Amino acid sequence: MSAPEPVVTVALDPDWASVALVEDVRRGLGSQPRTLPPKWLYDDVGSDLFDEITRLPEYYPTECERAILRDHAADIVAACDATTVVELGSGTSDKTRTLLDAFTAAGSLERFVPVDVSEQTLRDAAAMLAERYPSLRVEALVGDFTLHLGHLPRGGRRLVAFLGGTIGNFYVEERAAFLGALHDSLEPGDWFLLGTDLVKSTDRLIPAYDDSRGVTARFVTNCLRVLNRELGADFDVDAFSYVPFWDPRQERMDLRLRADMPQRVTIPGADLSFELAHGEEIRVEISTKFRRERLHDELASAGFGVERTWTDADADFALTLARCDG
Ligand code: AVJ
Repeated sequence: MSAPEPVVTVALDPDWASVALVEDVRRGLGSQPRTLPPKWLYDDVGSDLFDEITRLPEYYPTECERAILRDHAADIVAACDATTVVELGSGTSDKTRTLLDAFTAAGSLERFVPVDVSEQTLRDAAAMLAERYPSLRVEALVGDFTLHLGHLPRGGRRLVAFLGGTIGNFYVEERAAFLGALHDSLEPGDWFLLGTDLVKSTDRLIPAYDDSRGVTARFVTNCLRVLNRELGADFDVDAFSYVPFWDPRQERMDLRLRADMPQRVTIPGADLSFELAHGEEIRVEISTKFRRERLHDELASAGFGVERTWTDADADFALTLARCDG
């Protein structure tokens, strides 16, 4: 028996990557303090490097979340009545298979909606999933989860999974906007399953973002290579140091690149040029760590009521199941 064809809907404009990159570069690098949004870290090289990060001994979040899913997928299924699972930033839907296995074992799931900006990754994943779960309708959405939540397919009881701790990349106000938009796109009674890394000792946090093999440094620095290639920029990639630190007030890792010497940077594709002083920093990523109370408050403010929380044995990482209230 051949599996039903997955349906792939493209919500992204074909020129989204270039238009959004130019906007982000002009806004972020053209003002002080200089920043770049982390979504541009994931070209092919960056995606491979991130994959390597998830297998580093120092980088605990992936393994912790996997353990929670392994131990509690059946509890998650039992706690909600979803007939559709949506996954935001699904990539290869690697971890989600544990969840889909539990849902299909319970016999309650009808549809899976993976959402990702990478059309090829999504098409490959959708074909694999359709094959593996012949009873599921796979309706993939090529889209940016900060822009296209309004395109999520309707109907049924939906569970939106946002895993990996990716929400930690958002600034406070971006997080509120995202949670609000998600709430707007759901119906009362729909579910939200959120993966968050938790506040812990810097003895664990620093090595997780500054590994001994330098993979994270290469991953973060790769954004300069992306700008050199995509926008014809002339960053001297080797003239930057990777500077990760813990910001105790905001409770987040702050990952920056510091210019080791003064340099003039020209980015023709963004019609931008500027001087970087010796020691000047570009912030490339934040990775916010959460406490339960803060998370519950933020979810409540957006109209989500926490139903249950699961953590790994050491409480390093949390999966939170929340219900969309009216
Ligand atoms: C993919 C955003 C969850 O914040 O831990 C890992 C990205 N950056 N190491 C994280 C990342 C450097 C990661 N997220």
